[in-house]
Amino acid sequence: MTTVKPETLAAQALHAIDRETGAIVPPIVLSTTYARGEDYRPIGGLVYARDESPAPKQTEAVLAALEGGAAALVFSSGMAAATTAIRALLRPGDHVVAPRACYFGVRVWLERFCARWGVALDLVDMSSTAAVRGALRAGKTRLVWAETPANPTWELTDLEAVAELAHGAGARLAVDSTVGTPVHTRPLALGADLVMHSATKYLSGHSDVLAGALVTAKADDWWAEIAQLRHDEGAVLGPVEAFLLARGMRTLFVRVERQSATALALAERLAALPGITVRYPGLPSHPQHALARKQMLGGFGGMLSIHTGSGAERALAVAAKTRVWVRATSLGGVESLIEHRFTAEGPATVAPPDLLRLSVGLEHPDDLFGDLRAALEAP
Ligand SMILES: Cc1ncc(COP(=O)(O)O)c(C=O)c1O
Repeated sequence: MTTVKPETLAAQALHAIDRETGAIVPPIVLSTTYARGEDYRPIGGLVYARDESPAPKQTEAVLAALEGGAAALVFSSGMAAATTAIRALLRPGDHVVAPRACYFGVRVWLERFCARWGVALDLVDMSSTAAVRGALRAGKTRLVWAETPANPTWELTDLEAVAELAHGAGARLAVDSTVGTPVHTRPLALGADLVMHSATKYLSGHSDVLAGALVTAKADDWWAEIAQLRHDEGAVLGPVEAFLLARGMRTLFVRVERQSATALALAERLAALPGITVRYPGLPSHPQHALARKQMLGGFGGMLSIHTGSGAERALAVAAKTRVWVRATSLGGVESLIEHRFTAEGPATVAPPDLLRLSVGLEHPDDLFGDLRAALEAP
């Protein structure tokens, strides 16, 4: 195929046309097993659905192209993707550097995994390149895990700088780019070795698929071990979910661009309200706004957080009063969600008690702003 822009790749799902029927939407093949010919060779090259099947393969090809990677694999969830990647690399005695502020589930799992398997873990402020430099142990650090922008405070990691530091110490850099999406951030082009997505979020985009994905810069030993683990353990994505994910990715760019534009408009309007602090990489008040402008492409994402002041009680009271924003966990769907991460994460949380996380959907910005303002101003 001629070289085309990512928007075109996504919309056409790599120009996928079913060879047999001419269907421009690929059929969903539900078969778990595939026939062999008299010579005992698999007729269509496929053997068994825990290895590979058509819809996941097609989805992986689109993802690899969007991230500019050598290959991609889809998983049954974002957590399955993250934990498979980490387990495939780390051995007892290794050292890993990860962010203090990142998706709660990954941090808590990493703490448990590292304690159990004799892996040293440093949780650092990844918005500080100096902190990463200070934590690295040459020859011992095997992995640097980053998330940018990072949940739920939307700090950024300077991927180019951290990739160079990690490689200098003999470590690999993996990036959870769930919130950045291939629309706004291209970690592999900035030097990362691996990109991870909770495809449950923006990639599928409609809050109806649980899925994860990994994209590698190189088909190296780490990647072979990741593929082996997925095969052995079976955390694969089913054909229906893979179909829905591929379908969602066709509209990735229009959704995310609109969500980012609305998020920026909301961030600006909310920041003008008395007593409200807004965290959003697109605002000049964000401590890493300059890095965001350099590292993020065409927008700053659809996620922001606000501090309502006066602790958890006030934040929960505001959330209780929204009528347009839906009170629910997760992010990246077409409907806007409001979440009190402090409550959702429980005792091990590091989320500030007065913080409300906002996932901006596709509603009209005036409705979203009006609803939040009314909730904030209600007695
Ligand atoms: C940034 C980020 N990474 C990873 C995950 C985990 O993904 P999943 O819920 O698909 O397992 C999430 C889920 O909320 C997330 O927000």
